[in-house]
Amino acid sequence: MKLYYGRMLARNLDGVHGLTPERLQALVGRFPAVLDEIRGHRANGEYGFMDLGAQDATVASIVQFAEGAGQAHDHLIVLGIGGSSLGARALVGALRKPAWNELHDEAREFYPRITILENVDPTSIAAALGRIDPRRVLVNVVSKSGGTAETLAQYLVVRGWLDDALGPEVAAKHLVFTTDPTVGPLRAMARAEGIPTLDVPPAVGGRFSVLSPVGLLPAALVGIDVHGLIRGAQKALERAQEPDLLANPAGLYAAMLWAADTALGARIHVLMPYSDRLRDLSEWYRQLWAESLGKKIDRRGRQVFLGPTPVGAVGATDQHSQVQLFMEGPHDKVVTFVRVQDPGLDITIPARPGVPPEMDYLGGHTLGGLLRAEQKATASALARMGRLHCTIELERLDAESVGELLMFFQLATGMAGAWYGVNPFDQPGVELGKRLTFAALGRPGYEVEPASPEDPVV
Ligand code: PA5
Repeated sequence: MKLYYGRMLARNLDGVHGLTPERLQALVGRFPAVLDEIRGHRANGEYGFMDLGAQDATVASIVQFAEGAGQAHDHLIVLGIGGSSLGARALVGALRKPAWNELHDEAREFYPRITILENVDPTSIAAALGRIDPRRVLVNVVSKSGGTAETLAQYLVVRGWLDDALGPEVAAKHLVFTTDPTVGPLRAMARAEGIPTLDVPPAVGGRFSVLSPVGLLPAALVGIDVHGLIRGAQKALERAQEPDLLANPAGLYAAMLWAADTALGARIHVLMPYSDRLRDLSEWYRQLWAESLGKKIDRRGRQVFLGPTPVGAVGATDQHSQVQLFMEGPHDKVVTFVRVQDPGLDITIPARPGVPPEMDYLGGHTLGGLLRAEQKATASALARMGRLHCTIELERLDAESVGELLMFFQLATGMAGAWYGVNPFDQPGVELGKRLTFAALGRPGYEVEPASPEDPVV
């Protein structure tokens, strides 16, 4: 993985926008202190995701389960939300063939189809349960806390569907839970019914858990090389030790985006992979960046109301949608492109005799070549307009490069937390919403919000 950052620098843009040499030097000078601060927090039990590069025993047990009991099923349903679902979706999107569920068994190498039920929209859940055969399904319920209303509601609905079809005893054999090792309702139910369970390490937060059993189990069940994911993560972790900011990709990315937000007015951070297979990864990144860095209170207890706004885009599709705004709208954005050098397969655009001259130039190029050319052209146009951007380049999309990319973004987020001076691992805003939902549904011990005195409606 390479990070091209020249177009974050004023000298390569219009001379007005971008990082000046002095500002970049100041970031370089402060970086060892940022690393020290992270070491301190790590010693206090934070940054647990940084230990996920060394989990041989866990990975071995996941692979054993996936290759044994896991293969007795031809459909995997994952129940979870937020950090408990977005990572698995990103992995499947990036590393399984497109339209996986539509492929016949041989094309899927006999690995199961997968449905990830994130929302509690009754129409999606009814449609999924209507088309899946309960006799051939494995249901992985994922909740670190074990108590999230959406996930437990999904569980109760799906469990009822399984019980009706198979009877409660057989139904329990179609379940595997991924949750906290000791606490929470899921853990209690697993104990009571003997349901196999994998642990979410307590020091690993939801949105940092893709490379824990949360993402690894679904990945292994559909045949993704989880050893490769961890090898890639290790590479990112090694590079993140480097005290020289300019040799530390995650550190540099975090520092530049923090400076762009807090000093250059670029508060909107766009992630724009030029690959359909990374569309879901860009949704995963949105949650990671938003929920980790959007904070009211900083580490010193001061009210700060900080945080960049992440935006997802996909090239070349969004060139015909959002790019006009990125080019000519306010100077309030940084665009991070992700380009994949080798798409794995390519299609040559056939030259067709007699076509009008306006389209003749396309013949003989490949679609992959067109995508790469479009990314470079869009980047050059942004530079001419004085727009901040950088490019992450992956040689190819395989388990190792995706593991490295995921760990890179997690490290960058953890480091950005130190630059912003906030705790990137809590989410008091989300917790408040959860509590108010409990109250609205009558959960004992939670007080209902008094109705708003005035609620105008037109
Ligand atoms: O990142 C987070 O902590 C959240 O997005 C959680 O993943 C999400 O709220 C789901 O929580 P849980 O895994 O406890 O069900």
